[in-house]
Amino acid sequence: MHIKNLRRPQSWAVGVLATMLVLTAAVSSVMAQDANQPWMNSSLSPEERARLVLKQMTLEEKIALLHGNGMEHAPQWQMPLTHLSNGGAGYVEGVKRLGIPPIFMSDAAYGVRDSGANGRYSTALPSSLAAASSWDPQGACEYGALIGRELRAQGFNMSLGGGVNLAREPRNGRTFEYAGEDPLLAGTMVGNLMKCEQAQHVIGDLKHFVLNDQETGRNVVNAIISNRALQESDLLAFHIGIQIANQGAVMCSYNRINGDYACENTYTLHDVLKRDWGFNGFVISDWDGTHSTEKASAAGLDQEQPMANYFGPALMQAVKEGKVPMAEIDDHARRVLYAEFLSGIVDNPVEKGVVDVAGGLDIAQHLEEESIVLLKNEKAILPLNPAKIRSIAVIGGHADVGMISGGGSAQVDPPGGNAIAPPGQGATHWQDHIWFPTSPLKALRAKFPNAKVEFDSGQDATAAAALAKNADVAIVFAYQWLAEGMDLPTLSLPDNQDGLIERVAAANPNTIIVLETGTAVTMPWIGKVRGVVEVWFAGSSGHKALANVVAGEVNPSGKLAMTFPRSDADLPHPVIPPLPPEDEGQGTGADNGPTHVASKYTVHYDEGLKVGYKWYESEHKEPLFPFGFGLSYTSYTYSNLKTDNAQRTVSFEVKNTGKRAGAEIAQVYATLPEPAGEPFKRLVGWQRIELAPGESKTVTVPVDPRVMSIFDEQKNGWSLLPGTYKILVGPSSSQTPLNATLQIQ
Ligand code: BGC
Repeated sequence: MHIKNLRRPQSWAVGVLATMLVLTAAVSSVMAQDANQPWMNSSLSPEERARLVLKQMTLEEKIALLHGNGMEHAPQWQMPLTHLSNGGAGYVEGVKRLGIPPIFMSDAAYGVRDSGANGRYSTALPSSLAAASSWDPQGACEYGALIGRELRAQGFNMSLGGGVNLAREPRNGRTFEYAGEDPLLAGTMVGNLMKCEQAQHVIGDLKHFVLNDQETGRNVVNAIISNRALQESDLLAFHIGIQIANQGAVMCSYNRINGDYACENTYTLHDVLKRDWGFNGFVISDWDGTHSTEKASAAGLDQEQPMANYFGPALMQAVKEGKVPMAEIDDHARRVLYAEFLSGIVDNPVEKGVVDVAGGLDIAQHLEEESIVLLKNEKAILPLNPAKIRSIAVIGGHADVGMISGGGSAQVDPPGGNAIAPPGQGATHWQDHIWFPTSPLKALRAKFPNAKVEFDSGQDATAAAALAKNADVAIVFAYQWLAEGMDLPTLSLPDNQDGLIERVAAANPNTIIVLETGTAVTMPWIGKVRGVVEVWFAGSSGHKALANVVAGEVNPSGKLAMTFPRSDADLPHPVIPPLPPEDEGQGTGADNGPTHVASKYTVHYDEGLKVGYKWYESEHKEPLFPFGFGLSYTSYTYSNLKTDNAQRTVSFEVKNTGKRAGAEIAQVYATLPEPAGEPFKRLVGWQRIELAPGESKTVTVPVDPRVMSIFDEQKNGWSLLPGTYKILVGPSSSQTPLNATLQIQ
């Protein structure tokens, strides 16, 4: 029987087993950490410490490190030790007699998951896609550090965050958990996030390795792509992220890549991740993403989660029968131990504490203020002047009570429960649409005390238009919900919101749209509204950040980490290939039934490495808003581009020519020499520059050779082609006023 059909084991059996195991644990704890154990010498390297302790371990102890022990909040995934898990998604036994602690894992994409179910509190940060729009690696570091602190305070010592899949398919329901469409931007942002998260003494993780770029049929889909395209796009994002984060774990994904499942794929796990990149940490399977014992072990999977179907008794048996060599077991166990020493969870045992709620709200606000992207600002309608505005009509999106968040295993629980649920129904459930109690209406009223700020739900477009007509300004709040286990059928706004916007814009020319989205949206009404502000899934202080932007206390500086196309028809795949009837349910929910291993469902990623802006440029399709685009309340000029061939740097000057201080994200792109055969440019560097009014700065940006190189399939390696590289510099991928050349010998 497949694991997902297992029902909760008989409670008496669980009880007896649990008691026995707890007793065993209590006895063995007598021999726990001892400063004289050689591997407790923290001046040794994590590798050395892992090797020393491994020598002392029995086969049983090693195998205990290689599988999970169930999942507390999923009744179908219960095992005898599940109750020890601290309420997280995964629990791995340690080796108490040798002082090796258990691993307590929690999802933590934009905050720690399941705090509601566990009776705790977590800060919700802006979604990862929002944070990527700040292009601020230091901000990403603050983001990760906050999550790391809250994980520890809640008793966890491993994060399951770190989504770095590229927005190849923007309708992917998890796009908000990732960091956009460019490998350098995504890898740098998520890498810095995870580096700082792990520095709080939690094992860091990057996921979902690799090409898990859509949710439709995610448990079975065979993603077909050339090695060159895979290397230069999705794999490159991971490689850059891993080089920065040096995190302990990589989670392999549900999908197949060119035939084999990601968690038993020799090419991606063994050849690329471990051999070519020298990754020393462990590969953890996505939940129920393990499909074999011998094949997965040989390919490089180190740990099965959340159960022990393949890497528990079956692995033990395979070792005894000589089907899995001891050396493989040692390698898997050594990697788990290495991650424990590397992250400091051995030297700094986890200790529960109190989450810094007020500090978290401040950080969430600051990060959101950096992440908001001003997309349209005709006749400088924004910012609104609190001294002049007499009335504002706030319409739609439940803006009276809150702002929407992203769902699935990323979901952070809002304090007090779902803001749009009837009183008393506070608990959140899988695939609920969750609004945080962050009321933009209240935040705007606080910023505009002299104005009449009134709300209409937008349910009846006629009533909404009537309210808008009599106001100085109308602000429509539009949302698009996203979650794991689903893809959007279209990038159009759901629930007739386009129609509502049309009606309001017709009633009041001073209409501003606030978008709460987890990916790109199409905007058929763009020519009829004055302002568009993208706030993403804005987190625990999103309302305050937005109100500060609207009132001009914060000058927006975010820029899009992904292209917004004009229509679905412009996407590389106008329609996501539908699932055949026999594969229905494969990836559409938390518990989607047994994997249909014989599935033939395939997607051909023929666009290859032309992900996002590279696609639009080479196909000559003009996007609605290009990658890297975002407006400001001030203006900037660019001048004086110089390239240094020997140093491989680019320097230029940016001047703030307006009257407000601001931060400009200056972008450097390159087109490769002819033999590369790439009819588009690549992002090769950027700098976020703070500038006072009238101030100018000269910045020097190193050009990253990893993103200038091509993957040569013939020699199965990377080449930095000699020749002339065209360098383009400017405020977005479609606006590059400066250009020069860089020679590479
Ligand atoms: C998701 C992972 C998550 C895991 C544990 C899976 O369904 O794909 O991202 O970490 O569940 O909750």
